[in-house]
Amino acid sequence: RTVYVNGEYLPETEAKVSIFDRGFLMADGVYEVTSVLGGKLIDFGGHAARLERSLTELDMGCPVTMDELLAIHRELVKLNDIDEGMIYLQITRGAPGDRDFVFPDPETTKPTIVLFTQNKPGMANTPAAKVGLKVISIEDIRWGRRDIKTVQLLYPSMGKMMAKKAGADDAWLVEDGSVTEGTSNNAYIVKGGKIITRNLTKDILHGITRAAVLRFAREAQMEVEERPFTIEEAQAADEAFVTSASAFVMPVVEIDGAKIGTGTPGPVAVRLREIYLEESL
Ligand code: PDD
Repeated sequence: RTVYVNGEYLPETEAKVSIFDRGFLMADGVYEVTSVLGGKLIDFGGHAARLERSLTELDMGCPVTMDELLAIHRELVKLNDIDEGMIYLQITRGAPGDRDFVFPDPETTKPTIVLFTQNKPGMANTPAAKVGLKVISIEDIRWGRRDIKTVQLLYPSMGKMMAKKAGADDAWLVEDGSVTEGTSNNAYIVKGGKIITRNLTKDILHGITRAAVLRFAREAQMEVEERPFTIEEAQAADEAFVTSASAFVMPVVEIDGAKIGTGTPGPVAVRLREIYLEESL
């Protein structure tokens, strides 16, 4: 695989980052995951805009322009011959040459930028979408700025491990009695034909897939309500699903052992997945 590091395209075994990089020492960095379908980038504009926002919120510079970033994405898709898969992009505050809590001077310490591809042939046709996911609920103990897409992913990672241990696929995070989001996706329920998903605040990541899916839903005359919901409400819903750049629209069929609706992917989730994939291809 050819990867991109600080202006260079290199074989992955030759790519290097300093041990003093603040991404490595302090999780001082942000990322984006953009999907590729049919060799085409999905919603690059949305991911680029969110990246700029994440960087601004953390007072971090960007080593490339958004046009250059698009060109790098396209070059990696070409070099690695990606038809279906993902591009991971990470920008950290760079490597000041020592460990210090204080941000380094941006004049002397440039951000580190890394991109690599993940080849996932058949991703759009994954059998998981026909079966649906089982999720467990766990307490949301993440920090208060989940709207910034930082590389601080230890708790989401622990959440997935807790789910795995419980025989489930993923976890939904619960704060003050209501669901914030999934470990790496936005969470939805459907009741009486209405799609319900948490409103956008600092409590959750403002999903790029979420924005697209809600737009498609409204265009298809489906009713959408943006508000928090509880696990009990989700368990009593007709359907549930999650969205993310890597999973698109993925049905959820069980929450904490309770079947949702019939316990199979619901028609709204299935339809939204179809629409999303059609519109993206
Ligand atoms: N995760 N919420 C969280 C906490 C996420 O990490 C993600 C994305 C989303 C969905 O956002 P989007 O639709 O823009 O992908 C919501 C990515 C895919 C990941 O970490 O791999």
